Amino acid sequence: MARTALLLGATGLVGGELLSLLLADQEYGQVTVLVRRNLPVTHPKLVQRVVNFDQLTDAADAFRADEVFCCLGTTIKKAGSQEAFRKVDYTYPLESARLAAAGGAGKFLLITSLGADAKSPVFYSRVKGEVEEAIARLPLKTFLIFRPSFLFGNRQEFRLGEKLGILIWKPLGLLMMGPFRKYRGIQARTVAAAMLRKAKENLTGRHQYNSDQIQKTGS
Ligand SMILES: NC(=O)c1ccc[n+]([C@@H]2O[C@H](COP(=O)([O-])OP(=O)(O)OC[C@H]3O[C@@H](n4cnc5c(N)ncnc54)[C@H](OP(=O)(O)O)[C@@H]3O)[C@@H](O)[C@H]2O)c1
Repeated sequence: MARTALLLGATGLVGGELLSLLLADQEYGQVTVLVRRNLPVTHPKLVQRVVNFDQLTDAADAFRADEVFCCLGTTIKKAGSQEAFRKVDYTYPLESARLAAAGGAGKFLLITSLGADAKSPVFYSRVKGEVEEAIARLPLKTFLIFRPSFLFGNRQEFRLGEKLGILIWKPLGLLMMGPFRKYRGIQARTVAAAMLRKAKENLTGRHQYNSDQIQKTGS
């Protein structure tokens, strides 16, 4: 029987890449996206549901998918405050994972970040680590965590910090060898491809992948 996927963050850099891979993948018969606004895309396999992310339980039925992919995220600058950032990067993914566990989803796949650590003094890394820890306590059959380094890709929105980061990080990446490989930047499409590949593997329990492992899996 064809697989079903639920994707959160389909309008984002990685989520957008993942959506196109899922729609092109013959193993998936239905791909549902939870969005704040409809995407300008129609596809026979695509089901779009506009939701209020503060009330994800209203879409609880959508979480009965084989795989739930969570590519949500924001920046503190864009969100406007640490509290608003935490809502998108902690509360929404955790609530999604809770609904996935309750709905019996086979796998929950989450992007956090390189350096995610619940004990980090850096707020961003701490929130990413905390969400990993909180989700790991849920009764999920399979929980896969992807911790990419700097993301490369064609972002519609202009982010000055990111543009400068790409300019610096891309050439520097060539010097990052051995244990430093995980700091190399990575294409959003490679992250999406790695998530899709891991979704199809017969894995149980918690597994996490750093950027160099994501690079190998998604290439
Ligand atoms: N950028 C990097 O270099 C980098 C590096 C390592 C890890 N990461 C992490 O990787 C993940 C994916 O990153 P990305 O760059 O692909 O993300 P992105 O392009 O910024 O996309 C984020 C997604 O989250 C959704 N979202 C944001 N705020 C929301 C809100 N208040 N309510 C509902 N949905 C909301 C967006 O939907 P809308 O279109 O509706 O806003 C979009 O679909 C994130 O968790 C990020 O922290 C990023």
